Amino acid sequence: MYDLARLREEFPVLSTCIYLDSASTSQTPHRAVAAMCAYFYEYAANHGRGSHHLARKTTEEYERTREVLGNFLGVDPGHLVFTRNATDAINLVAHGTCWEPGDEVITTALEHHANFLPWMAQKARGVVVKVLPQRRGMLDPADLQEALSPRTRLVAVTHVTNVLGTVQPVREIAGIAHDAGASVLLDAAQSVGHMPLDVRGFDFVALPGHKGLLGPQGTGALYAADYSALSVSCHGGGIVEDVSLDGFSLLPPPARFEPGTPNIPGVIGLGAAIRLVEELGVGEIHRHETRLGVQVHEGLSAIAGVAVYSPRGSPVVSFNLEGMDPHGCATDLDRRQGICVRSGLHCAHPLASSLHPAGTVRASMGCYTTPDEVATFVETVREIAGAR
Ligand code: ALA
Repeated sequence: MYDLARLREEFPVLSTCIYLDSASTSQTPHRAVAAMCAYFYEYAANHGRGSHHLARKTTEEYERTREVLGNFLGVDPGHLVFTRNATDAINLVAHGTCWEPGDEVITTALEHHANFLPWMAQKARGVVVKVLPQRRGMLDPADLQEALSPRTRLVAVTHVTNVLGTVQPVREIAGIAHDAGASVLLDAAQSVGHMPLDVRGFDFVALPGHKGLLGPQGTGALYAADYSALSVSCHGGGIVEDVSLDGFSLLPPPARFEPGTPNIPGVIGLGAAIRLVEELGVGEIHRHETRLGVQVHEGLSAIAGVAVYSPRGSPVVSFNLEGMDPHGCATDLDRRQGICVRSGLHCAHPLASSLHPAGTVRASMGCYTTPDEVATFVETVREIAGAR
């Protein structure tokens, strides 16, 4: 087990509140902020453009994060494209694939809108979108088997749901999809940095920088095992080998997918944050967060009038207080003890509204959450339940 007290020194904001909204975005460690400050104060310049020493240092530090992330995931850094977030990574695939009318995409009823809307939007191009059903927050690979057809090009599926924290059988799903000749996109928004993740075996993996990897907001990456199916959907500076008045030729990937000036400070901060995640160890983080998930589940389940929807041990816990609007409960938690949770439909309307028309209250733990904070949270829910 890592030293929680020492870890929390990296996150000064945690002394001001009880932050249980890490599924939304993690807090950013001091070392990532310091790395961003060093960029701004010591060497800020543009990436990949210019031969002066500041530009060289900037490019070196930006590219270092690609190596750090590649090393963290156990993949060639050349297969990682930096994006604004996981949504952007998924859109890169949705807009970069040359769809033919009648092509099929299979997604699921569990998805965050980030892995649902980009596919629905492709319907206008004649893409057929099939949606796998969910039962109690889980997918059944047999449903995929049934939905696949020779026209299925892609299966886009979440690893861990942001509403319930349920972990999907994605290896089995990838195996079935590949056997049928379809590619697989994994949305790892709620898993990377929180639990062991082997991206090999998936064709594309969408990775947010600002959740389990502890990086700043506005960072993320797409892992692409093979770029051959992807065309460039956003054009501009920094991605070309040559341009004439008649046309242009592109740099090889990943550079060709990173047009314009990127979020340089964010990417540099992300590199520092990933090193912290590595120091802590993803296995340890997972064990810690699972223990907290069990504590929340047991605590809430013992309160009369509380419906807990998430499985025991999930560090993302959705619940409702009988007869109380989720937003009202979240506001009360904040007012009483400065507890920050998310409430409502969690940008996953199909799944969240299947639990309750108004959605749920969601408490989500991070590597820095303490058992004492969880105890205060459970006690405060008890107080609110008693005061109704
Ligand atoms: N995807 C984030 C969440 O679930 C924003 O809250």
